[in-house]
Amino acid sequence: MRMTVRKVKGLRGRVKVPGDKSISHRSLLLGAIAEGTTRVLNFLPAADCLATLACVRALGVEVERLSQTELVVQGRGLRGLVEPKDILNCAGSGTTMRLLAGILAGQPFYSVLTGNEQLRRRPMGRIAEPLRRMGATVLGRDDGRLPPLTILGGDLHGIEYRLPVASAQVKSAILLAGLYADGATVIHEPGPARDHTERMLVAMGASIEVQSSKLKVQSSKLSSLDIVVPGDISSAAYFIAAACLVPEAEVVVGIGVNPTRTGFLDALKEMGADIEVENQQEVSGEPVADVVVRAGGLRGIEVRGDQVPRMIDEFPILAVAATQAKGETVVRDAAELRVKESDRIAAIVAELRKLGACIEERADGFVVEGPTSLRGTVVDSHGDHRLAMSLIVAGLLAEGETIVEGTECIDDSFPGFEGILTALGS
Ligand code: S3P
Repeated sequence: MRMTVRKVKGLRGRVKVPGDKSISHRSLLLGAIAEGTTRVLNFLPAADCLATLACVRALGVEVERLSQTELVVQGRGLRGLVEPKDILNCAGSGTTMRLLAGILAGQPFYSVLTGNEQLRRRPMGRIAEPLRRMGATVLGRDDGRLPPLTILGGDLHGIEYRLPVASAQVKSAILLAGLYADGATVIHEPGPARDHTERMLVAMGASIEVQSSKLKVQSSKLSSLDIVVPGDISSAAYFIAAACLVPEAEVVVGIGVNPTRTGFLDALKEMGADIEVENQQEVSGEPVADVVVRAGGLRGIEVRGDQVPRMIDEFPILAVAATQAKGETVVRDAAELRVKESDRIAAIVAELRKLGACIEERADGFVVEGPTSLRGTVVDSHGDHRLAMSLIVAGLLAEGETIVEGTECIDDSFPGFEGILTALGS
């Protein structure tokens, strides 16, 4: 699929973005191993989360879909999953594969996890290694580092583990395995990766202690929960950026504002954006708020260190915003971007250059010199949903017509993206 975008003026309105992807995955996975019934409202019916849904069903969990966004998960308790009769297909979802591997490491049966070509290229040694140290057998291609992964789980023991990267997926895999282990599992985090798993485990009554960068979990039962999934800040990021950049724009969006996810809002504010956070409250253990964004001039900034994991999925759209900011925007310490759905550093640099941006690749980030007027042309998503949506926003700013090729991947995280953009006036 391809999408044609034209320069726009005055995006306006209230946006309802779909449910948070990370929290939707976790509500299924944790609901599956909790005792009793977990009800999920505002579930994200995107390809990635539907892959998790199919996998938990294949493990014997009954999930009733009352509507696209409303689920009832009949938890089977920690020890109630059944050996899947076939391989488990995680499609393009790294969260599905990594978190599920943590749960499967604790099961006394055989399972195989695979995914699409894109996912089969992504590094799994980062979860395989700690899960092996806990006592599971985890096999894979390339000396156990690439999917498909074969897991023979069973008797696990707790470990003390220093995460080599600030990754919520790796942290969550170890925490979930820790629920099955003898003794305590202690994790040291090098930076603030999203903490949705910890929050949900606390809400479900797990034995977990959270002290800034140190987490400790012990084997414990989970009780079921009613979960209202907040709007996804990573999906809202495209409208937030567009509202900053399109002349006369004003957009309001209700989203989760968990501090481990708000790095992009902080970056835009530092760039001089007109952003207000209103009506903050807590829903299902997660902070939510209305974010009001108005058009205004931006200036270049530097993003590095602990801010990087707090906005790890927002770098492609930050690069777009940076092309319109006065001065230099520098991103460092973000080499993780190279192992996402695409190599997001190489991909965003290549595509924004086609539109006339002044952007250079660095080993661990990129440098953008702005402002530049973008010129519409044909660009490619690299099969990466976040690239596709970022390039569409770039197309709203570019002179003439921008054609974004390979937009079907938007459904991986944001079915309905195009409709919302059109409703706002694009
Ligand atoms: C996610 C964590 C992040 C993020 C991904 C979703 C999660 O990955 O990029 O889109 O739900 O835990 P890492 O934790 O590997 O950085």
